[in-house]
Amino acid sequence: MPRFEHRPLDPDNVRPRRTAFSFPHSIPRHWLAGNPVRTHFFNAINLFVVSFEDFMGRVMRSRLSHLKDPDFERQIRGFMGQEATHSFVHAKYLQNLREQGYQIDRYLNVCEHIFSHWFERRLGMLLCVATIAGFEHLTALLAEIILSGKMMRGAEPSMAEAWEWHAAEEIEHKSLAFDLLMATRRSYLLRMVGALLGALVVAGFIGVGLVMLLRQEGLLWRKQTWKDLKELLFGPNRMAVRAVAIFVEYFRPGFHPSQRDTYALAEEVFGASRG
Ligand SMILES: [Fe+2]
Ligand SMILES: [Fe+2]
Repeated sequence: MPRFEHRPLDPDNVRPRRTAFSFPHSIPRHWLAGNPVRTHFFNAINLFVVSFEDFMGRVMRSRLSHLKDPDFERQIRGFMGQEATHSFVHAKYLQNLREQGYQIDRYLNVCEHIFSHWFERRLGMLLCVATIAGFEHLTALLAEIILSGKMMRGAEPSMAEAWEWHAAEEIEHKSLAFDLLMATRRSYLLRMVGALLGALVVAGFIGVGLVMLLRQEGLLWRKQTWKDLKELLFGPNRMAVRAVAIFVEYFRPGFHPSQRDTYALAEEVFGASRG
């Protein structure tokens, strides 16, 4: 049985797909091609997205009653459903990390505190919506790089499928947070501040999570680790260079996420069946 529902891509009718992910104990510690750096890059995302996706859901829910277009409201509800499913699936993998001996719970509490207290209570609704729109541009660009660069090659199959499904849904719903920001407040300055905050969240939490996991394994100061990190960021996939190039598109005044043609990458995932 497939681990997620292989329903074709439909950005005009965003809905969560049914999932049946389980992450067995047999998943190796370095599940991505035996490479600790590449593995912990994704594990670091896994750690913080659970609470960030829950935060997005709460902010979006608070905006529902302000939406005038029922079609757009249906789309935002679909977005919330997809993010809630992502959070649910990634939360399952946290148990594997605990069983592998990583000390993650204090860090998870810090993530939760930052998003639910600092962001939600102190930042104000407008900045929260702008940060979510900026964050979603970053998740869409990461999804594009992951899928086009076939970054899950060599990954344990259930992990590969989880990340490819998540990446494909990020592409499917990539316009909705931006459209919500536009429906809430059309301000170039607000959009830019949100993009910078979103980038800070992505770079900060991936960086801290990656260092923490490598340090707990005693791998942080190994020469090979830094070689692998350089390879990940500047190797054949040129992840860092491509990420910056796509990120700055957001600063173009007439930018809209749909202008970037990435739907074929997601279509490939939803059409594929590994059985
Ligand atoms: Fe997500
Ligand atoms: Fe998303």
